Amino acid sequence: MANSNEEEERMVKLGSYGGEVRLVVDGDESAAEETMLLWGIQQPTHSKPNAFVSHSSLHLSLDSCGHSLSILQSPSSLKLAVALVMGVMNLLIWMIHISAQTIGALARDCVWDSRGTPGVTGAVMWDSGVVLGKFLEHSVDSGMLVLQGKKIVELGSGCGLVGCIAALLGGEVILSDLPDRMRLLRKNIETNMKQVSLRGSITVTELTWGEDPDAEIVDPSPDYVLGSDVVYSEEAVGDLLETLMQLSGPNTTIFLAGELRNDAILEYFLEAAMNNFTIGRVDQTLWHPDYCSNRVVLYVLVKK
Ligand SMILES: C[S@@+](CC[C@H](N)C(=O)[O-])C[C@H]1O[C@@H](n2cnc3c(N)ncnc32)[C@H](O)[C@@H]1O
Repeated sequence: MANSNEEEERMVKLGSYGGEVRLVVDGDESAAEETMLLWGIQQPTHSKPNAFVSHSSLHLSLDSCGHSLSILQSPSSLKLAVALVMGVMNLLIWMIHISAQTIGALARDCVWDSRGTPGVTGAVMWDSGVVLGKFLEHSVDSGMLVLQGKKIVELGSGCGLVGCIAALLGGEVILSDLPDRMRLLRKNIETNMKQVSLRGSITVTELTWGEDPDAEIVDPSPDYVLGSDVVYSEEAVGDLLETLMQLSGPNTTIFLAGELRNDAILEYFLEAAMNNFTIGRVDQTLWHPDYCSNRVVLYVLVKK
């Protein structure tokens, strides 16, 4: 157990974020210790899931930076309902089952959370996105962070809420995701940013982790890289870290917000990330006071 001196030593400033964060100290067992500590302190399964989002709603409404954002979602329940109707029609007309293709597409879209219920990755919002977006707003308002005029790249943008907030805060933002996520993402940017006189700018581009990013993303390297709920599968960790390395220059600060669903995946990520990044956990006292959740964790990373 760390004594109070050790605790104080662990509070450091990382990158361009002005708040003090809790250093995740390098070491053989430190990723395991960090996850055990998190699950012990925050007890994520004891608090309400999806406190700020609804996966069965078509929109997420959120006020941020003096604007009312309305983020369009494409909930799984609707997809499943459509598939069911299609299945019944198919059955009636041709007396066959739902096509293997439809089932395949649905299966590809689904992530299974800790409760064993499916969600659609990138097609609905997750609490960690709301927490990260409101954290950015709160940090700018409290003078801990400057986004005005900064180059910001968001990875795995999904519905695009975090990137929209970063642009409202003055960032020159590039949102990115897999090619098949572009439609909903572009629609949300168009709908929410069209009427707004932006202090910053916002564009959308395809970026698959582990593949070479376009020059506009890496040159010059971004001031900030953002990601919410992007650590959810062990298979993707290597590619995600490769992309984070490609994007990180000497002045790049990364903010990652994660859902506390699976301690093994988080531990796996932290252990691998520690090889190349210094990692600090942002205490909830520094988050937006109305947008805290024990199911979410927020890290700052800078390249070693
Ligand atoms: C769980 S969603 C989170 C979406 C959004 N950031 C949020 O908080 O609501 C994970 C996102 O990562 C994207 N993603 C997953 N694997 C990826 C990869 N290999 N390359 C790029 N994006 C990926 C998904 O398409 C999806 O948008």
